[in-house]
Amino acid sequence: MSLLESKLPNVGTTIFTVMSQLAEQHGAINLSQGFPDFQPPARLVELVEKHLRDGRNQYAPMAGVMALREAIAEKLRDLYAVHADPESEITITPGATEALFAAIHAVVRAGDEVVVFDPAYDSYEPAVALAGGKTIHVPLETPSFTPRWDRLESVLSDRTRLVIVNTPHNPSGTVLSEADLAELAALLRPYGCYVLSDEVYEHIVFDGRHASVLANPELRERSFAVFSFGKTYHATGWKTGYAVAPRALTAELRKIHQYLTFAAVTPLQHALADFMRECPEHHLELADFYRKKRDFFVERLRASRFAFTPSQGTYFQLADYGRISREPDTDFARRLTIEHGVAVIPISVFYADPPAGATFVRFCFAKQEATLRAASERLVAV
Ligand SMILES: Cc1ncc(COP(=O)(O)O)c(C=O)c1O
Repeated sequence: MSLLESKLPNVGTTIFTVMSQLAEQHGAINLSQGFPDFQPPARLVELVEKHLRDGRNQYAPMAGVMALREAIAEKLRDLYAVHADPESEITITPGATEALFAAIHAVVRAGDEVVVFDPAYDSYEPAVALAGGKTIHVPLETPSFTPRWDRLESVLSDRTRLVIVNTPHNPSGTVLSEADLAELAALLRPYGCYVLSDEVYEHIVFDGRHASVLANPELRERSFAVFSFGKTYHATGWKTGYAVAPRALTAELRKIHQYLTFAAVTPLQHALADFMRECPEHHLELADFYRKKRDFFVERLRASRFAFTPSQGTYFQLADYGRISREPDTDFARRLTIEHGVAVIPISVFYADPPAGATFVRFCFAKQEATLRAASERLVAV
């Protein structure tokens, strides 16, 4: 008998790795994993090089380079009219992934319940399990992929320690409104639980403005909000993000962060701080930048047999292949990659209990026009 008993027996290689490998193996166009096939802004790369050469190569402060935390505080004030103290409420982390993990471990204890909405980003549940918590899955309505708040209400109890929300939402591309957040705040009022809001696509909202939990005064008090520079600056491989939370929550999050990684990569933080100040238009224009890509892709997809509602945010487009096939989405995604040369993500992998007969796959449109054109030509022929 093996002495090794896995702490995460149900976790295998993530679907993102599986599909990216399959795409490479079959020479398929990769619209599966969420990363751009274009470069970060040239000036930002120049700034990274400058800071590398200037010797910013040793440990950064545990909570992050102060200039970057200050630039974030300014942005939060300008965009959301939110005051966050860079000293005690903003923490730079190696990717949003680490911020999510640290936030979960900061508050979840053995036996606690954590509510997530399915389809849910795949890093939440393993972090909850490692903290000894139990994940309670509340499905979003299909095909609208919106929350039904009464369903949340029905699972809340004194055992609920944390509710995790994600807006703009991966994989569905839907967004929560200020009214949704007000509803969430009202529902949570009787409970002493926390909120973890994954807002890594905050700058990619196509209609109206991003609604952040930080801008809802009641939620602000009980929330960790998590962001990613990787998404905003076309640099997912830099794995740099941050968490914003009230002082007491930040203090607990930092205790975990301190021993998980201690600090994020130093020269990147300095470069990002400079770039945020020099080029605020980058994040202000990001929604337009991606709206053009979404429109380019969906205009072409209209000629196909895929059915869809244009994405409201993120750089993902969900599509229903029910008019093409009724096979399970994992089979369809494999076949699309191997036979038609386009790799996608089947969304059942984001569910604890996938809805029977659902036929949705996720496309990533963070790609150059030539990539999107070539992919859509193939998809129209399916
Ligand atoms: C919803 C969501 N949260 C978190 C992350 C992770 O962000 P990072 O690469 O900064 O760790 C991603 C990346 O795909 C994501 O889509």
